[in-house]
Amino acid sequence: MPNDTIVAVLGTGIMGAGMARNLLSAGMEVRAWNRTREKAEPLAEDGAKVADTPREAAKGADFLITMLSDAEAVEDAVGGEDGPLPVLAEGGVWLQTSTVGVEGSDRLEELAAGRSVAYVDAPVLGTRQPAEQGALVVLASGPEEVRERSQPLFDAIGSKTLWLGPAGAGSRLKLVVNNWIVGLIGVLAETTAFAEASGVDPAKFLEVIEGGPLGLPYAQLKGRMMMDEEFPTSFSLRLARKDAALVLAAAEKKGMRMAVAEAVVARFDEAMDAGHGEEDMAAVYHAARQDGGYEPAPRAR
Ligand SMILES: NC(=O)c1ccc[n+]([C@@H]2O[C@H](COP(=O)([O-])OP(=O)(O)OC[C@H]3O[C@@H](n4cnc5c(N)ncnc54)[C@H](OP(=O)(O)O)[C@@H]3O)[C@@H](O)[C@H]2O)c1
Repeated sequence: MPNDTIVAVLGTGIMGAGMARNLLSAGMEVRAWNRTREKAEPLAEDGAKVADTPREAAKGADFLITMLSDAEAVEDAVGGEDGPLPVLAEGGVWLQTSTVGVEGSDRLEELAAGRSVAYVDAPVLGTRQPAEQGALVVLASGPEEVRERSQPLFDAIGSKTLWLGPAGAGSRLKLVVNNWIVGLIGVLAETTAFAEASGVDPAKFLEVIEGGPLGLPYAQLKGRMMMDEEFPTSFSLRLARKDAALVLAAAEKKGMRMAVAEAVVARFDEAMDAGHGEEDMAAVYHAARQDGGYEPAPRAR
């Protein structure tokens, strides 16, 4: 059903493209901008207007959504004299959904305050498929006054929204969840490599945990990718490394050392050095396998 909400979406990568399509499906007018324009162009077929600049996308828009790699990318796209914030419609709201960490979110909130634009810190849980299906979980935090108005957009991109308080609360929870994810992928990669080194078929490991409290669907999904050595990207290793580094930075601020996260960052670095940065984060398995100088046992397939 058409409605008269105009939304500027900056960033049409893995996550942003799916989100933009779901906003269009909800009947909103979507203006999409992407640094590499060709990646935004397919959205025109779904009814989006593709803009040449963030400012062009934002002119007169009720909402600005950013879904870019990191805080620096968001600053590049949104900051500056000719940025998009001053040209939003009166009372326009910025929904910042990229993962930018706690300090990053604080910086972006200041940027918004400088332009008198309401800022909602709203990182999301979920990956490519939930983004395409409108099934993300939104960790929203920001001014109470814009909550009701923002909700229809979150309903379009997600299946659940948690409102967590003042801006920054969403990013804090997001980092906690991401630490969990990053730890899981690191230990799963080593467990798979360890199984192989021990002459154990990793499929047996997945079979034995399946259905019980240890058998996370996530382990099945990513474990299969490792066993098949196929890593189609839902979440790039490069951005997972960025998130792990955000966790470490936030922990350091609290005087806390996160030895497990540090070890996984080192693994991510090894995998990136070996050229796997744009593959799915499960490709960290390559780094786990290379340790010890052994030849992995042949596998039963
Ligand atoms: N994928 C996931 O599973 C997932 C889940 C939850 C949260 N996230 C977070 O969501 C955000 C986007 O992730 P994604 O997976 O969609 O990444 P992606 O596919 O790599 O897209 C990244 C986007 O950022 C843009 N970009 C990078 N540097 C830029 C700069 N300096 N200036 C302007 N634009 C820049 C890219 O433009 P180009 O196309 O020109 O390179 C692209 O539009 C990240 O913060 C990520 O951590 C991802």
